[in-house]
Amino acid sequence: MKRHLLSAADLSRDDAELVLQTAAELRSLADRPIKKLPALRGRTVVNLFFEDSTRTRISFEAAAKRLSADVINFSAKGSSLSKGESLKDTALTLEAMGADAVVVRHGASGAPHRLAHSGWVRSSVVNAGDGTHEHPTQALLDAFTLSRHLGRGKAGSLDGRRVAIVGDVLHSRVARSNALLLATLGAEVTLVAPPTLLPVGVDTWPVETSYDLDAVIPKADAVMMLRVQRERMNGGFFPTPREYSRRYGLDGRRMATLQEHTIVMHPGPMVRGMEISADVADSDRSVIVEQVTNGVAVRMAVLYLLLGGAQPGGEE
Ligand code: NCD
Repeated sequence: MKRHLLSAADLSRDDAELVLQTAAELRSLADRPIKKLPALRGRTVVNLFFEDSTRTRISFEAAAKRLSADVINFSAKGSSLSKGESLKDTALTLEAMGADAVVVRHGASGAPHRLAHSGWVRSSVVNAGDGTHEHPTQALLDAFTLSRHLGRGKAGSLDGRRVAIVGDVLHSRVARSNALLLATLGAEVTLVAPPTLLPVGVDTWPVETSYDLDAVIPKADAVMMLRVQRERMNGGFFPTPREYSRRYGLDGRRMATLQEHTIVMHPGPMVRGMEISADVADSDRSVIVEQVTNGVAVRMAVLYLLLGGAQPGGEE
């Protein structure tokens, strides 16, 4: 593995499989009464969040704590960032505190890359979502969830599995990271969106594209719904929310056209009634809550592998 995890493209197939295997070993901890291992004892993980987050921040915090690392949570609100402090000065502060890993979420695409390659910090940098660019640990947890449900053979291979990623691809760092990682792992990805919500240059991604949800989902093994990111839009991407839901939302009627084994995923936060109806989100095909649980194991694996901790069993 490389020293930083900035993009799903940083992961070779071997790297990605190693993360997934390590996560599988660590996943069993979630079912034990005592969820802690000493692997990263004495190490410091800083969660640096410049953008709102519920799941991802809590998930990294839980992951680091379960490996016994010291965790410092730093969010932009209430810090000197709101006084105009720069990313560089923040980074120098972290360095002075001896961070071993910095987990960063930022509204600007490329911010984690800047942090990793500026020479400001010596720590490993993990991208927890940058602008509309990438969110590699989300893609890893999605791949992990897919492989638990659809994986073939002992290694849980996704070779030839069909995944439909549906909705606001244009603004979605989750979609980009998933497209890259799932292709690396041998899955066949189809992006489904209105033409206005597909990015320029999508023809260079390792995916198929479609504007027709009803044509794609009966063939899919998994359907991943994306939130419409209205905070990143200045209007005009689709006529009305109702029209959007009618063409690109997953409701009970559409769910009935899925194959029996097909699972429904969503990275959260969901807007029920928009991209996904409440009955679908709460149905037994939905693995949305399990994605959150798996997220902790996958982030433990990432921190563990990047920081070169002791054996998961606890030997130093
Ligand atoms: C996503 C994100 O922040 O990129 N959520 C997440 O990390 N689980 C997707 C979104 O905000 O819609």
